[in-house]
Amino acid sequence: MSVARKVNIRPGVSVLSVLRHLNYSPWFALAEFVDNSLQSYIETKSKIHAIHGPAWKVKVSIDIDTSHPGRITIRDNAAGIAADAFPRAFRPAVIPPDRTGLSEFGMGMKSAACWFAPKWQVRTKALSEAVERTVRFDIATIVRDELEELDIDERPAVPNDHFTEVALDELHHIPIGRTLGKIKDHLTDIYRVFLRDGALDLRFNGESLSYEEPPVLTAPFLQRAERTGQGLAKGDQIRVWAWTLGERLRCTARSGKLCPIGVRLVPSRSPYSREWRGRVSTAVTFRDLRK
Ligand SMILES: Nc1ncnc2c1ncn2[C@@H]1O[C@H](COP(=O)(O)OP(=O)(O)OP(=O)(O)O)[C@@H](O)[C@H]1O
Ligand SMILES: [Mg+2]
Repeated sequence: MSVARKVNIRPGVSVLSVLRHLNYSPWFALAEFVDNSLQSYIETKSKIHAIHGPAWKVKVSIDIDTSHPGRITIRDNAAGIAADAFPRAFRPAVIPPDRTGLSEFGMGMKSAACWFAPKWQVRTKALSEAVERTVRFDIATIVRDELEELDIDERPAVPNDHFTEVALDELHHIPIGRTLGKIKDHLTDIYRVFLRDGALDLRFNGESLSYEEPPVLTAPFLQRAERTGQGLAKGDQIRVWAWTLGERLRCTARSGKLCPIGVRLVPSRSPYSREWRGRVSTAVTFRDLRK
């Protein structure tokens, strides 16, 4: 049996209609949902591991149906949105109680969902609670009728179940063609730390994403190249240049280990990056290294 309660979404419902004009890219918008799943996992992992054992992994699956009108679902097995978090979670810009993790401004899910779609819903089952809940956003209706509360659909559920599923419908932006590949690459880059240490099982249209360390740039050691005027010869040992990001993003180069030549750079997939709370926020391209 389904029971209806209400969640208040004031102030700022009119803001919801403006969010579709944000200058997002699909991968950063999708990352908002993955951030939330990871944050939930980080906050509750001891409880979840106590139920499922140490081998349990947080899993986030993104599925895109590109056929018109387009649908994206993002489903995780993290701890779900607890009843007492509802009043905050669905209101725009209500800052989360703990801002030290991947949740900071209280906007990510709302802005990414509204950017993607005029209609979206969140179905969630919070760990230890006996109901799952669904909230549906239809932005045009909310704004037209100046709705300040949305119904929460409640259904009985098993207390130990836990997940969140966001479904975005009638997409403003249907990712197709090369964009799908870019999304995959960017998500793999952004979450490389979690993928590499095996904490995260991230799936994109059924494919499990894994981060492979791209080969590092090998470029002639500058003084040597200048001195001899020669390029590299087969069998030469050359320096691999590493790049570290200093304070305030000022970059400093340092020379690293010796490495056989022939290793090639994949320009868009830099292994050097700036990490922010475990998530990669800036990757440095190797073009800079040659300067
Ligand atoms: N997948 C999820 N699992 C558990 N809780 C979630 C999930 N998605 C959202 N939430 C809850 O909803 C809240 C609002 O999410 P939203 O992304 O809009 O803002 P935020 O994460 O608090 O801040 P930010 O603007 O930095 O993303 C989160 O703080 C979290 O409590
Ligand atoms: Mg967020």
